Amino acid sequence: MYAVPGRQSTIESGVAKEPANPSPIRTRRPRYPGKNPRAFHQKYKELNPARYAAEVQKILESGKTPAGMHVPIMVAEVLRCLRPAPGEIAVDCTLGGGGHARAILEGLQLGGRLIGLDVDPLELPRAEAHLRAAGFGPDTFTTRHSNFAGLAQALAAEGLAAADIIIADLGVSSMQLDNPDRGFSYKGVGPLDMRMNPARGEPASAMIARISETALAALLEENADEPHAALIAGLLKQHPLATTQAAERAVRVGLTTALPQIAKAEVKMSVRRTFQALRIAVNDEFAVLDALLRSLPHCLAPGGRVALLTFHSGEDRRVKKAFQAGQRAGLYAEVADTVIRSTKQETFANRRASSAKLRWAVRAR
Ligand SMILES: C[S@@+](CC[C@H](N)C(=O)[O-])C[C@H]1O[C@@H](n2cnc3c(N)ncnc32)[C@H](O)[C@@H]1O
Repeated sequence: MYAVPGRQSTIESGVAKEPANPSPIRTRRPRYPGKNPRAFHQKYKELNPARYAAEVQKILESGKTPAGMHVPIMVAEVLRCLRPAPGEIAVDCTLGGGGHARAILEGLQLGGRLIGLDVDPLELPRAEAHLRAAGFGPDTFTTRHSNFAGLAQALAAEGLAAADIIIADLGVSSMQLDNPDRGFSYKGVGPLDMRMNPARGEPASAMIARISETALAALLEENADEPHAALIAGLLKQHPLATTQAAERAVRVGLTTALPQIAKAEVKMSVRRTFQALRIAVNDEFAVLDALLRSLPHCLAPGGRVALLTFHSGEDRRVKKAFQAGQRAGLYAEVADTVIRSTKQETFANRRASSAKLRWAVRAR
């Protein structure tokens, strides 16, 4: 199991700080209502897996992902597609918590090297520290704060012409999703932000305020096939929305009021699709994926393997088309003819695996 602790107790996160060397003096646990903490920052045990390993293991075994941890998806299947061999060069375009990277690094052994890219400047150093602690030194593992749209430039900056192995596991990590400060989810109160790199671009709240209702409706339809796009765009434009919960409420209450017959489950799906569509727009996810897909054949060494994990049809369609076009052009020798899905057991153990689709391709020699 490559469950990766992504977030330790920190002052900046507002988590009640655990002392590095716990003293024998008993300290009060953070206060929260009820038997178990519900808010992300109060889950002090989950956020400190080194100290509370047994509790964290119990949560994993119950099919949940502990706060601040990312459970990598389809690790065995990814390894079967990528076949890492000693001495090879690998790039993980989406390092996240480093779970896939660690599994690949174990296959590269002596002489091999993995470069981990991530656009998120907050989580990248945590993943690096975690993999260093697991024994991967700078000769075998390096990180770069980079968007994977710049994969070719990242390789060149590392003095490499091409890689034998490339992986991208798209979307956001559990660390990003669960932390309300990042503004991806409405489960906790947080700013309506959604930027993977908070130092660039504009938060979702500013984008909603800036673009027209028509443009907002178009992006809801294009990015998430939202059937109530026009209605939701109007709801989102009614009042300025500063928090994720305000946006969730605007869509939920607005849809239920405008369409009294609508089923609760349908409203829930619309809220989810709205958040997905906004996140894709804020991070320009389709444009950067298209850029990655264009550069892949030129960044792979002859016989090199690539594996891509996608989480919705807009992504999978792009990957499938690009791989098929690359094969027709003679750039890929082989491509996946069907998607690989996670097993029932994995989906039970990690609900986030249920929508994952894995595709692979092999560079022509
Ligand atoms: C699903 S997580 C990856 C998890 C990782 N495979 C693991 O095992 O822990 C996706 C990661 O990709 C990063 N990411 C998303 N889009 C990116 C992009 N265009 N360039 C670089 N990193 C990106 C996110 O910041 C996030 O950390």
